[in-house]
Amino acid sequence: MSGVRMDGRDPGAEPGQIPALPSESREVHHEVLRSHRPQESDRPQGPLPALRAALPVRPPRAERPRLPLRSTGKITPGSVASDLCWAALASGEGCRIGLLGDPGAGKSTAAKHLAQAYLTRSRGLVAVADSKGEGGWPGEIRESVAKLASAPLGSREIVFTPDPFGEPLDLEAVARWQWALAARRCRSLVVYDEIADACQDGEFPDDTTALPRVFTAGRRVGISAIWGAQFAQLVPRAPYECSSCLLVWRQAGNALAVLRRRGYTDAAVEDVIRALPGDDVPPSQRGAFVLLRRGRPWDGRVYRF
Ligand SMILES: Nc1ncnc2c1ncn2[C@@H]1O[C@H](COP(=O)(O)OP(=O)(O)O)[C@@H](O)[C@H]1O
Ligand SMILES: [Mg+2]
Repeated sequence: MSGVRMDGRDPGAEPGQIPALPSESREVHHEVLRSHRPQESDRPQGPLPALRAALPVRPPRAERPRLPLRSTGKITPGSVASDLCWAALASGEGCRIGLLGDPGAGKSTAAKHLAQAYLTRSRGLVAVADSKGEGGWPGEIRESVAKLASAPLGSREIVFTPDPFGEPLDLEAVARWQWALAARRCRSLVVYDEIADACQDGEFPDDTTALPRVFTAGRRVGISAIWGAQFAQLVPRAPYECSSCLLVWRQAGNALAVLRRRGYTDAAVEDVIRALPGDDVPPSQRGAFVLLRRGRPWDGRVYRF
């Protein structure tokens, strides 16, 4: 797996200095060039090369995505959010990350970026529980955990995508497999793309089985999980309460009430969440989200991969 960031941005730079959109990158390059301008004494003799030629070409206006954000004009690169989400990996722990938002707002796109970031920080496996059968995830495809036995893996990336005409994907079986990996000291990340597929009325059928225990007990043994959901009220307590970061795309109504009850939001961030772009704009303009941590104030940023 390549260590190159998928967003192509410099991970070491200060968040405020990194342009969110290609349209801003020219100003930043000017800034960098200004700060590295040579002193009079070490200035080379003769004509200077044309700096302008070295600058990236500004894309035509029509191609630049414009995010309809009423709350703030600035977007922080998703890689900054990713660094916060995976911080605990550095101390050998697993991480839990929640992705919540309207259908089509950008959850799966973000999960793909986060999974690639995990691969650069950990030697663990990445599996995607693609229970909706959407496809488009990188990795070796298997219909189920049972099918792993007949066709061993040759890659660190696996996608469990069920046959559309066959049995639905058993998320509990995926979680049992993840625990079996942990027992063999193999770290792993599973992306449970739609966690509500394993729940009934917002509850796990049994809180003591492998899937709920991924959230309540997996951290110390290097089990990481990303859970996605379209409806906040259909997610059980454990994923909320055990996730270090919750990334939220556009949501409204009942979902915001659930987030407030769970200690993630206040009135200010709720206004921002309502104003984020969703499927009311073309796909190329979606993807903006906020990062929330339970019991902590909102960081005031809107992110986008
Ligand atoms: N950050 C982004 N940059 C560009 N396109 C995006 C971004 N986030 C989402 N999209 C586009 O929006 C559409 C829906 O995104 P997706 O991640 O599938 O949403 P969800 O999983 O929330 O239903 C896709 O066509 C995707 O390419
Ligand atoms: Mg999705």
